[in-house]
Amino acid sequence: MTTTKLNVDALVDAGNGRVTSAIYTDPAIYELEMERIFGRCWLFLAHESQIPKAGDFFNTYMGEDPIVVVRQKDGSIKAFLNQCRHRSMRVSHADSGNTRAFTCPYHGWSYGVDGALIEVPLEPRAYPQGLCKEKWGLLEVTRVETYKGLVFGNWDATAPDLRTYMGDIAWYLDGVLDRREGGTEIIGGVQKWVIDCNWKFPAEQFASDQYHALFSHASAVEVLGAKSGDANKALGSGQTARPVWETAKDAVQYGEDGHGSGFFFTEKPDANVWVDGEVSQYFRDTYSEAEARLGKVRALRLAGHNNMFPTLSWLNGTATLRVWHPRGPHQVEVWAFCIADKNAPDDVKAAFERSATRAFGPAGFLEQDDSENWAEVQKVLRGHRAKKTRLCLEMGLHGERVREDGVPGITNYIFSETAARGMYRRWADLLMSESWEEVNERTSAYKQEVLK
Ligand code: FES
Ligand code: FE
Repeated sequence: MTTTKLNVDALVDAGNGRVTSAIYTDPAIYELEMERIFGRCWLFLAHESQIPKAGDFFNTYMGEDPIVVVRQKDGSIKAFLNQCRHRSMRVSHADSGNTRAFTCPYHGWSYGVDGALIEVPLEPRAYPQGLCKEKWGLLEVTRVETYKGLVFGNWDATAPDLRTYMGDIAWYLDGVLDRREGGTEIIGGVQKWVIDCNWKFPAEQFASDQYHALFSHASAVEVLGAKSGDANKALGSGQTARPVWETAKDAVQYGEDGHGSGFFFTEKPDANVWVDGEVSQYFRDTYSEAEARLGKVRALRLAGHNNMFPTLSWLNGTATLRVWHPRGPHQVEVWAFCIADKNAPDDVKAAFERSATRAFGPAGFLEQDDSENWAEVQKVLRGHRAKKTRLCLEMGLHGERVREDGVPGITNYIFSETAARGMYRRWADLLMSESWEEVNERTSAYKQEVLK
């Protein structure tokens, strides 16, 4: 442990804006991440709308552990390790559904929706000595808490509660979850695909990287911009097909406690140029309700990127919410959900789903730009020398400040790497700390250093 501890500290120098590439490739670091990050942080499991009735279940992951999330008879939500206690088979194989019991397909042990082992085939003959079924229920995820419809799990009984853990990222997340009465729901199924890159690349980009959009997405933006007449016709609205960074007056990046976000201040409730006309019209039609609930800044914020540490990302106005499930140091499995206001009309929900898939589905015209970058970077990092190279995270170094206009947290100009530096500092703090107390001490020290 001591060696790894020293290594981790040496690999991340957030104060000077440097990280060493091995953090994306080292198998020992990956194993430590599973224990100390995915074993201790709050991880997104599901949206409540996916499991509305008793017995409804949804299968997901916490790190690489398969997890089944189940609505209980009393309306509460529990989550279990999807692992039969007999010989480790998954007891639930469907992506989602409704059930009264989970019956293991291997030897037929059966578990109730509360995780209790209720039935063992041939029990009197196979276990003449007796089997204490109370001891062999499914392992329950230690803590499950919800935030405005989103369900999170945590294995660590000593972790801060979910709301405390979220800190100011909750303010940014409310811009999606709290626009209208009735909250949100997941539209359609989950799109899942694998990218050959470390999970931290996409998480970091959604936390901190507006900068790439100007260059990596230049061709997509050019198509929408240069053919603005056609694009507007195709999009079915009168919106101007110019990217927000060309029209916005000011912009902010937030980065604290490992979380990150970025957005531009705008004056009109205009959606991203790639969404369908029905979506743009819907945002205009519902603007006053959103403004009454969230205030002007967040109601107008229909573009921007976000990551709640470690792996929950979303894009405002685009309706994509995704989780980056780690699959070894060199792979990530993306799970993309389409999230929209529950009270939106059905044709608008369909338009949200179409728009999110077109831009950010597995073959989305913006998604492809991003995943190509991450996979190429990961290929470079297979090189022996490349793994040892220090990478530059100096953008906007020492530009951090606390704003006075109500936008909370440690902030900087949007074209900075404040959130990335904060994310890697928090990442290293978690890897190095034995307890949450120690994590929080380290994080507070870093915040003081950043703001001095
Ligand atoms: Fe599940 Fe044997 S592995 S019953
Ligand atoms: Fe991108």
